Amino acid sequence: MYRVYITRKIPEAGLRLLKDHGFELDIWPGDLPPSKEELKRGISQADAMISLLTDKIDEEVISNARNLKVIANYAVGYDNIDLEAATKAGIVVTNTPDVLTETTADLAWALMLSVARRLIEGVSHVKDGKWRTWEPQLLLGQDVYGATLGIVGMGRIGQAVARRAIGFQMKVLYTSRSEKTGIDAQKVSLDELLAQSDFISLHTPLTKETRHMINKSTLKRMKPTAILINTARGPLVDTAALVEALREGQIAGAGLDVTDPEPLPRNHPLLYLPNCIVVPHIGSASQRTRDLMSEIAARNVIAVLEGSQAPNQVNI
Ligand code: DGY
Repeated sequence: MYRVYITRKIPEAGLRLLKDHGFELDIWPGDLPPSKEELKRGISQADAMISLLTDKIDEEVISNARNLKVIANYAVGYDNIDLEAATKAGIVVTNTPDVLTETTADLAWALMLSVARRLIEGVSHVKDGKWRTWEPQLLLGQDVYGATLGIVGMGRIGQAVARRAIGFQMKVLYTSRSEKTGIDAQKVSLDELLAQSDFISLHTPLTKETRHMINKSTLKRMKPTAILINTARGPLVDTAALVEALREGQIAGAGLDVTDPEPLPRNHPLLYLPNCIVVPHIGSASQRTRDLMSEIAARNVIAVLEGSQAPNQVNI
């Protein structure tokens, strides 16, 4: 009987599929990520593994695998896995693309609108009993309608964000390794995008090349009215440089679903800046999407254990 190690309790949809195939499930019961020692134990006894983006599956962890054939990451991003080490060990790595595209794009828009229109400050204003009357100068924000949106990384999620901009009559600029036809947007250099955009939304994977792509120097190239949105990966942004830029008004605001580190310490300056909104990495967090991610991770496991090509293989 095949044994599947799952590093957290994921939605039932995928677990049911695995059980229906007669697999034995070894589920880490904690709410917090398992320790490295626990990952090593789990991987050493498993034929397949479903991991989360918070599990660092490095060379040391992988070296404990004996019968492991597949690591199915419960995420579209897989920067938490040492792909080279997995490939060297002959282990298939898979992800969960497509199903979370629209859900994540919705959140990028929620952040964009919330920062531009100072929604969280508005809610606090009401809750704190400060709402005296209609005021001509109260909580003035920025228009999203008709503004310029810069999308860094025009993959599936970037394109979904761009599609939503049509209804807001925005001009859309983007950077990408390839041309995107069929999308009403203009491909530009990163420099041009930074200089011209009112909203800059990050949708690129985290790699050695993209780590800290938003830093002191790139932040300086943005408009003082620019708003930065990150629903991709925290380390794309140099956190200290962002704090400084927000404090000094180099840019107008930021909406972050992902941060570096994650979670931010309770006393972190980003949590106290009025022009910054931080939410806890919930881009894909709708019930339907998480159910589908669970099913996709399970289908990838089943395919590999049954000797077929995994539908969402990212290596080998
Ligand atoms: C991903 O899938 O990579 C997101 O960050 C979480 O859903």
